Amino acid sequence: MNAFEQLESNVRYYCRRWPVVFATSHGSTIFDEDSKAYLDFFAGAGVLSYGHNNPELVEVALSHLRSGKLLHSLDTFTVEKREFLHTFEELILKPRHMDMVVQTVGPTGATAVEAALQLAQRVTGNRAVLGFEGGYHGMSYRAASVSASLAGRETVAHIGDFVALPFVKEMTSDDLDLLDRTLRAGFEGEKFGAILIEATQGEGGARAFDPDYLSALRLKATELGLMVIADEVQAGVGRTGTFFSFEESGLDPDIVCLSKAISGLGLPMAINLIRRNLDTWNSGEFTGTFRGNNLAFATSTKMLQTYWSDSLFEQDTKHKGTLVLDALHAIANTYESLDFSVNGNGLLCGLDVKDTELADQVTRAAFERQLIVETCGAGDKVVKLLPPLTTTDEELRQGLQLLSDAFAEVCVASVA
Ligand SMILES: Cc1ncc(COP(=O)(O)O)c(C=O)c1O
Repeated sequence: MNAFEQLESNVRYYCRRWPVVFATSHGSTIFDEDSKAYLDFFAGAGVLSYGHNNPELVEVALSHLRSGKLLHSLDTFTVEKREFLHTFEELILKPRHMDMVVQTVGPTGATAVEAALQLAQRVTGNRAVLGFEGGYHGMSYRAASVSASLAGRETVAHIGDFVALPFVKEMTSDDLDLLDRTLRAGFEGEKFGAILIEATQGEGGARAFDPDYLSALRLKATELGLMVIADEVQAGVGRTGTFFSFEESGLDPDIVCLSKAISGLGLPMAINLIRRNLDTWNSGEFTGTFRGNNLAFATSTKMLQTYWSDSLFEQDTKHKGTLVLDALHAIANTYESLDFSVNGNGLLCGLDVKDTELADQVTRAAFERQLIVETCGAGDKVVKLLPPLTTTDEELRQGLQLLSDAFAEVCVASVA
């Protein structure tokens, strides 16, 4: 029996999908301990948007480590945090006219969601949350309890004080009626405090809400005195092209949760952005030991300066997203009788094959071809593509060809 089977909990998951021992990585490629190369179109579930071991960010990390600078600092003032805050304000907040303060929460996406929910309850006095089918917000107890995507899964987490509305791809007046009725009815008579939404859902199926619906949510929340929390843990930091996935809508959230890709290098880091006038926390009311990861502040600053000083990177991601969507449409057209549908926004894309077994077989066939892709969505029926944003066009084409080959192997068998 190997060390993993003997010593690691049964809860382990990804290693069962990709049963090799990974050793090194660079850009969009991971190598196993026998130096076999895998093209990574999963990117650490969206953490490695700026590639594995991005050389410029590695340089920053190495020089930080060699210099004797602080690594851990709770939420004390540090040089790295100051630089990060200034850079974030200049490159991200100001150009988007967002008057928000930064709360360092650490170090996971779930922690950011916990903090957001607690603040929303503090501001509104109401605990119940309105969310959406397919929403995923993390595995801590409260975050899991508002993650509709976990409903019915084998988990002890209890979905509670929570109502999930259907996902809205193209808004109709029925969606607006349902929103209005649900918000006015409350949860078992108790008023809602927050609307929690991923403007583009990750685990829910790589699917983007209708921007008009997002704008309508904002208006309704303002009318009824609720807070809007945008969970940008997976779709944020450029994944959909724009820095925030809600940018092209009127969602205008009160709190934004960011984690995963925010350090640029894959280091644990999470922050919340809070509309300035709603930052009513008492000092120390929400703490956490790992809020001051200075290595992550330093690499994040460099990532922002490198990729977000102008709009070139954003345009490039949108261009790459089109390449991926075209390839997914081509696959869907090839197997027309199987009625696949294509989802996506920027480089958060998926092919809904409407069959759990088929999606699983495709990801396994892809892995045999040394391409790493995962499934997502209700029943894991969507083959999800989440390559690093730094993947070259050539690598994208290569990976999409491998995916198409995997479909050819699996679908020929299932159509026959
Ligand atoms: C949208 C979203 N929110 C929150 C989380 C939870 O983040 P973490 O796993 O870092 O707690 C995830 C993780 O996949 C996510 O996709």
